[in-house]
Amino acid sequence: MSASVASPTTPAAASRSFEQIVELERKYLLTTYNRYPVVLTRGKGVFLYDIEGKKYLDFVSGLGVNALGHAHPRIVKTIRDQAARLLHVSNLYYHEYQGPLAEKLCALSGLDRAFFQNSGTEAIEGSIKLARLAGHRAGGEAKCRLVALEGSYHGRTFGALSLTGQDKHRKGFEPLLDDVTFVKQNDAEALRAAVSDNTCAIVLEPIFGEGGIYECTPEFLRACRSLADRHKAALIFDEIQCGLGRTGTIFAFQTFGVTPDIVAIAKPIAAGLPLGAFIAKEEFASAISPGQHGTTFGGGPLACRVALEFLAIIEDEKLLDNVKKVGAYLHDQLQTIVDKNPNAVAVRGRGFIQGIQLEIPARPIVDGGLAEGVLFNSTQDTVVRFLPPFLMEEKHVDKGIRVLKKLLGKKRQKAA
Ligand SMILES: Cc1ncc(COP(=O)(O)O)c(C=O)c1O
Repeated sequence: MSASVASPTTPAAASRSFEQIVELERKYLLTTYNRYPVVLTRGKGVFLYDIEGKKYLDFVSGLGVNALGHAHPRIVKTIRDQAARLLHVSNLYYHEYQGPLAEKLCALSGLDRAFFQNSGTEAIEGSIKLARLAGHRAGGEAKCRLVALEGSYHGRTFGALSLTGQDKHRKGFEPLLDDVTFVKQNDAEALRAAVSDNTCAIVLEPIFGEGGIYECTPEFLRACRSLADRHKAALIFDEIQCGLGRTGTIFAFQTFGVTPDIVAIAKPIAAGLPLGAFIAKEEFASAISPGQHGTTFGGGPLACRVALEFLAIIEDEKLLDNVKKVGAYLHDQLQTIVDKNPNAVAVRGRGFIQGIQLEIPARPIVDGGLAEGVLFNSTQDTVVRFLPPFLMEEKHVDKGIRVLKKLLGKKRQKAA
């Protein structure tokens, strides 16, 4: 790097003002994001701090990633130690951590084999590639069709986008895969009509995340399971947002009592480092051979070691108990808002993946939260979504609820 170019760690970059940072991005970045007007510079536990030192309570966790909050001491120590030993080797060679992480995830899920890549979207791509291979093996080329749910979200690459049942994400990128049939969430009749011997996979989120926090019913998931079995299709759960502890069990499917053939995970698994995975039953995993799928970065020593530490911390600190206890408290508090406030109509979700449905636009509530020092997130225009770090306590929930009540006001506001 030329000496005149400032890296983010040089004093020149560190001393840039809020306005300078925003201006640089406006000038040089693709205009894909509509960011909130805040530059975050550090975090500790459930709090974040901006460039001016203002403190924020975090109900967003970087969209479900920072389940251990910010700067968890064990994660910091692990990253420091591993960075000084080995960051990357490629998948040409073995390293010490990929096997143990796969073993741990298989033990926790009851599934048989894992594959690691760098994001949720890639975990979905890998899952459907595996389902296609298994489908072709079981039923020839015709067994290639996919069934997904209206309103779902699975990512932005062409395969994942083809499964995403929302026009706003698909528009402008067609043609997408045309072998996908969409059915309404929890409509078992429509599902039965859509699944055939040519189906290679049914793909769904047990709880819609970006789609607005809508849960699949256990009955619907059981119908998916029995149709997948009957037609020898893979049942794939996208637990990228709802999995790894958010529902109070390590996998969301354990909360619902229906086991998939393949589960895709990502977001919190490596505590903020990019890592995604899919884990499959042997019956499907055995359809792939060397050379049919791969990645340069996926499953490197740093991300895998941190993921092992993440899973150990979840156990050592009994964080799933906290998610269940404080999640129930959050649900009750949100319900009291719905009971009393004319601008809120429903609470959905459980544990640390919940949403409150408003009758008014959610974005001004998020903007107001920012001013009050609380980070909320909105999705689907009228839903405030809660994906807090697993460390969140009742006193933090109380603060968030106080601010939310203040922003919603007492009177009916102008509808969305
Ligand atoms: C349910 C679900 N699937 C897939 C993805 C895509 O994951 P990523 O953004 O890591 O590629 C997301 C991201 O929000 C998600 O919530």
